[in-house]
Amino acid sequence: MKQFLDLADFSRDQVDDLVGLARRLQQSPEPRALAGKILGLLFMNPSLRTLASFQAGMMRLGGTSFVVTPGQGTWQFETRLGAVMNGGAAEHVREAIPVLSSYCDALGVRSFAEGKDLAADLAETQFLAMAGLCEKPFVNMESAVNHPCQALADWKTMDDLDVPRTGKFVLSWVHHPRALPLAVPAATVHMAAQRGMEVVVLRPDGYALPDAIMNRARAAAATSGGTVSETSDRDTALAGASVLYAKEWGSAACYGDTEAEARLREPLSGWQVSDDWFGPARPDCHFMHCLPVRRNVAVADEVLDGPRSRVVMEAANRMTVQMAVLYRLLKGYSE
Ligand code: CP
Repeated sequence: MKQFLDLADFSRDQVDDLVGLARRLQQSPEPRALAGKILGLLFMNPSLRTLASFQAGMMRLGGTSFVVTPGQGTWQFETRLGAVMNGGAAEHVREAIPVLSSYCDALGVRSFAEGKDLAADLAETQFLAMAGLCEKPFVNMESAVNHPCQALADWKTMDDLDVPRTGKFVLSWVHHPRALPLAVPAATVHMAAQRGMEVVVLRPDGYALPDAIMNRARAAAATSGGTVSETSDRDTALAGASVLYAKEWGSAACYGDTEAEARLREPLSGWQVSDDWFGPARPDCHFMHCLPVRRNVAVADEVLDGPRSRVVMEAANRMTVQMAVLYRLLKGYSE
């Protein structure tokens, strides 16, 4: 394993191997497994979980890490290919990535979507160019339309909870004051389809996920035996659901147009998960969200503080699965 860019690059057996290794490392810690290894972490965007869980996981395996946050004690970075660098950025990733990777044994990068050109963001042009500049094992810590570490943690969380592989999984749009990237919804719908689930995307009119994301998930479902559909009817979506996964995202139809987006979402503040959403769901339906979440905007306190909420468990699993990823990247399959 040389890169961890996309969970779709891995077969279900390979995902099961990573989840199994994560469990093994939880039960039987190996505090010397990555002794002497260094993980570089480049964050172009803010983080709590990804930042802390990669550092903690690396330390638990005996390795160490360094963090670079461009513009905060370092030069600002330019990511655009062909840019005329006469603005604030003094350093281009074309030099920065090879330099950083020369200091470490593996490099993780977080770089969100620009949010201006949907086709460019869907193509992941800038992120793949950065991955191509790194000669060391490379980890996607969230790109324009992917978040494979979150998807793997969510897969393990459902396994830990004994959610059936064929269970009903509802990914619902929820309200937020502004448009957020497509990375988590894209990774989540694909993950659940790849796991073999009955996936329903619940979203208001105007918030359908782009065809490229839905078609990719449908192709994964065709291989796994799952299904992928979408609706704007909440009760239909949630009937018999084992999991309600809430996420905020921006409209593909208004991509890059802040004013149009604000007009579209203004009447949608009612799309906030509350206890009454779960009426048609299974009695044991779990609530999931990748965090961070805006309380009483996207999700009501009663859900986040209630017995269905698995949000902290998901966050905890970020560390366990990332330890497995780092182990495979830096130690291969030698046990
Ligand atoms: N879920 C997630 O990636 O959290 P952070 O943005 O805090 O890293």
